[in-house]
Amino acid sequence: MTRRVVQIINQSLLGVKYRYNSIKMPRLPISCRLLVISDIIVPFIYSPHLRERFPNIGLLIGCGDLPYYYLEHIVSMMDVPLFFVRGNHDKLVEYGGAQNRNAPGGGSDLHRKVVNSGGILLAGVEGSLRYSNSTYQYSQFEMWEHVFRLVPGLLANRMRHGRFLDIFVTHAPPNGVHDKEDLPHRGIRAFRWLIQTFKPGYHFHGHIHNYRPEDAIETKLGPTRVINAYGYREMLIQIG
Ligand SMILES: [Fe+2]
Repeated sequence: MTRRVVQIINQSLLGVKYRYNSIKMPRLPISCRLLVISDIIVPFIYSPHLRERFPNIGLLIGCGDLPYYYLEHIVSMMDVPLFFVRGNHDKLVEYGGAQNRNAPGGGSDLHRKVVNSGGILLAGVEGSLRYSNSTYQYSQFEMWEHVFRLVPGLLANRMRHGRFLDIFVTHAPPNGVHDKEDLPHRGIRAFRWLIQTFKPGYHFHGHIHNYRPEDAIETKLGPTRVINAYGYREMLIQIG
């Protein structure tokens, strides 16, 4: 069934590309400095000097497995939009402190959503492959369902903005890029299909902990820069 849905979408895309390739969309280049965080608390980020350490950040992206209080600290210090997805270690409710949290205050959950933040087109999918009974774990088939849910928004982007997507945000990596052979860290086939079909400029993921300097943290998949955000990545992106 998944293969049939992919066929239908690919055929539809041919029509969308044919119809809209000839339209010249007015595209102003956008540059934005990103701070992308994932998987571990970085002491100098969880500090009152965060803003001095990272001046001129325009957008925050969380790739999962981070406490909600940590994300709240970052968004309150930086005072810019935060879009996040949850990882397999995130909790339905985070107990402790002054209040119990089920999401980071000030952040926007990107799971199964396509959003436009100041002209930057984002979409996201949470979680990893299912290997236990915890939340935020899915089968490969369920990941296909999450990705298919994004497709109408991506097509609407193409018609409105002349491109499908700028930044794809997930917790798990795509199949065959930065992933590992054990079930919890295996890559997601649907993510790879989305990247190869809709060609976002950037794909940020977490979940794969890099301990060795030789571990790849960035890989090109077609025109897409696939970046493991384990810890943090600060980067200036150019769109348009
Ligand atoms: Fe994870």
